[in-house]
Amino acid sequence: MQIIRSVEQMQKTAEALRLEGKILALVPTMGFLHEGHLELMRVGKSHADQLMISIFVNPTQFSPTEDFDQYPRDTEGDIEKARQVGVDIVFMPEADEMYTPGAQTSVLVHRVTQHLCGRSRPTFFEGVTTVVCKLFHIMKPHIAVFGQKDYQQLTVVSRMVMDLNMDIRIIGVPTVRDPDGLAMSSRNNYLSPEERKSALSLKKSLDLADEMFNAGERDPAIIKKAVEAFIENHPHARIDYVSLCDPVTLEDLETLENENLLALAVWIGKTRLIDNRLIRDKKE
Ligand code: PAF
Repeated sequence: MQIIRSVEQMQKTAEALRLEGKILALVPTMGFLHEGHLELMRVGKSHADQLMISIFVNPTQFSPTEDFDQYPRDTEGDIEKARQVGVDIVFMPEADEMYTPGAQTSVLVHRVTQHLCGRSRPTFFEGVTTVVCKLFHIMKPHIAVFGQKDYQQLTVVSRMVMDLNMDIRIIGVPTVRDPDGLAMSSRNNYLSPEERKSALSLKKSLDLADEMFNAGERDPAIIKKAVEAFIENHPHARIDYVSLCDPVTLEDLETLENENLLALAVWIGKTRLIDNRLIRDKKE
């Protein structure tokens, strides 16, 4: 497994592999790898000759009040896990290698970034699309793999790839959960045992909405109210948003369709967690 820290070396390596005719898959990460990331890597590996990952805690996607400094990091552990999964190349640049001083260019996807997390994190997606676009230019993948847990991020990146005619196939991978149902996230590490119990309300509220929909409820306001009441009944839980929205535009729905996205962001103590489910008629 090769570990590359410089942009120039990464570009040369990717170019050489492409000239050899190799298919390159990329899993972009911010490190502190867990089973969810490893699953993305396995999927990437199954589609490519060379599996590349990036480990970079991207400062431009954190606002000044967010947890950039506290974001968990474990470089040695990450390298060991990447090795075990069979990663071929790890790209691990420093921040000043990724962002040249005086940089004044960013990538902004306009509409799908306005909803859900975009409301409370207005600069987040611009940071994500800018860094992902840069990683695509530096690492030159044919395929890039993202988790469906970050449904809006997957939507925004797919939109960017489509709008900017990037010749990259985006693959979305279903959310990996702990045995108790909690969606895997590096931020779960912040939760105390008590908070973790409350964090299960996210997944359980998705189950509740699913049951209501499949029992025939089609009023999004009624389902939303039940989900909010369920979550708020748990200690430490404070809702950022609960949205029943169109799975493509992410706009709130006034009546439910055959396929709807239920997306949640909930503060559990000082930790903001997200989860989502496509709510659809199981009989169809
Ligand atoms: O999902 C993440 O870990 C990050 O947002 C990403 C895609 C690696 C960009 O920094």
